[in-house]
Amino acid sequence: MSFVSHVECTICGHRHDAKRVLSVCEQCGQMLAVRYDLAGVKAGVTKDALRSRPPGMYRFRELTPLDDGEEPVTLGEGSTPLLALPRLAAHLGLRHLWGKDEGQNPTGSFKARGLGMAITKARGLGARGFVIPSAGNAGGAAAVYAARCGLPCAVIVPRGTPPAAIAEAAIGGAKVFTIEGSIATAGKVVAKVAPQIGWFDLSTLKEPYRLEGKKTMGLELAEQLGWTMPDILLYPTGGGTGLVGIPKGYEELRAMGWISGALPRVVAVQAEGCAPIVKAFREGAEATAPWDNPTTHAAGLRVPSPFAGRQMLKILRETRGDAIAVGEGAIQDAQRLLGRLEGIWTSPEGAALVAALTGMKERGAVAADARVVLVLTGAGIKYDPPPLPPAVDLTGADEEIVAAVRRALGV
Ligand SMILES: Cc1ncc(COP(=O)(O)O)c(C=O)c1O
Ligand SMILES: [Zn+2]
Repeated sequence: MSFVSHVECTICGHRHDAKRVLSVCEQCGQMLAVRYDLAGVKAGVTKDALRSRPPGMYRFRELTPLDDGEEPVTLGEGSTPLLALPRLAAHLGLRHLWGKDEGQNPTGSFKARGLGMAITKARGLGARGFVIPSAGNAGGAAAVYAARCGLPCAVIVPRGTPPAAIAEAAIGGAKVFTIEGSIATAGKVVAKVAPQIGWFDLSTLKEPYRLEGKKTMGLELAEQLGWTMPDILLYPTGGGTGLVGIPKGYEELRAMGWISGALPRVVAVQAEGCAPIVKAFREGAEATAPWDNPTTHAAGLRVPSPFAGRQMLKILRETRGDAIAVGEGAIQDAQRLLGRLEGIWTSPEGAALVAALTGMKERGAVAADARVVLVLTGAGIKYDPPPLPPAVDLTGADEEIVAAVRRALGV
C-alpha cells in the first residue's frame, strides 16, 4: 500500500493533493516534496523484511510514491555498492572513507534513480510525452526510461554536452536539441515548449518525484553503513537533487526510529567556473544569484542558477556543512588519482569530491577518524578522459619488443 500522505511546499508549507499532476507550489512557485505517514511505514515494514527483498531502489517501496499495485518503469536502478576506499584514505591520512558508486546504475549515473521515479509517476498520472533540459546524464536517463514505457521524449542540452550522453538520448529514441548557453537556457525553452505541446516538463525539482528517486541513495547509504550515518557527506552539486534528497531519506528513517543522531555534515562541491552555491554560502545569502558565464568540463556542475538554491543552503547550514569550489586541473588530477589508487573511473563531477576532500584534509577541516562518504555520481566512461600517458606502440623483432616493454615498465 502507499504511505504518501500529501505533497507539501518546502518553503510555504502549502499542501497539494498527490493524486494530481504536480509541478511547483501553486501558492509560491517553490519546490514541492512528498510527505509520508511514517508511523504507518514503520508499522508496515521491518529491517529484516527489507533484507530479503530483491535489489534495486524499489526495495524501499513503502518510502516511495508508488501507488498500490503500481509497476515501476525500471532498468534495475539502485542498490549500487558502497565501496571502501582504503588506499585513497591512506593517501589522504583518513581512516574511514567510502564511495557510493553510482556509476554502476543503468545509464552510468545516479540520474537513473530520479528519472526512473519521475517517469513512473508521470506516466501513471497520464503524461503523453516528456521534455527535459539537461547537462547530459539526466537527458540520457529521461530518454531511456521514456523508451522503456513507450512514450516520446525531447531532450534539450547545451552545445558541448558530452557526446555519450547525447548518443544515449538518441539511442533511447529521443529527439535531441542543442542550444547555445547552459542548462538554464535549455530550461527556459522547455518551460515554453512543454505546455504548448502538452508533454510533461521533467526539469530538475520542478516536479516532486525525481527527489524521491534520488532520496533512495540516502536510504541505501543508511542500510549499507549498518543503519548509521557518516560524519561527512560530500556531494557534487549542480541542481542539487541528491543534496536535498539524501538528507530527506535520512530524516524519514530517523523519524521512523531506524537511525539516530545528527545528520552528516553535508559538503556541496562545485567547480570554480560555476559555483553559485559556494558563493551564496560564503556570503551568508539565503538564495543563490545566477552565475555569469558558467564554465567547467564537469558538465553536471554547470548549473548557473539552481532552482533549489534556498533548500540546499538551508541543509548546508543546518548540518554545519560547507561549500567548496575546485579547479579544472584538480578535478582531472583527482580522476587519475582515484583510478590509480582504487580502480574507479569516476566522472569529473565525482572526482571533484576527491579534490575537495584533499583540500579539506590539508586545512584540518576533517579529522583523521571521521567517517566520510563520497557520492560518486557517474561513470567516467561517459566523458572524454583526462589527459593520460599514451599507449606505447610495439613494432619490430621479438627482442626489440621485449626491450621496449621492459623500458616502458622500468623492469
Ligand atoms: C554525474 C553527475 N554528477 C552530479 C550532477 C549534479 O547533480 P545534482 O543536479 O543532483 O546536483 C550531475 C547532473 O547533471 C551529473 O550528471
Ligand atoms: Zn509554496
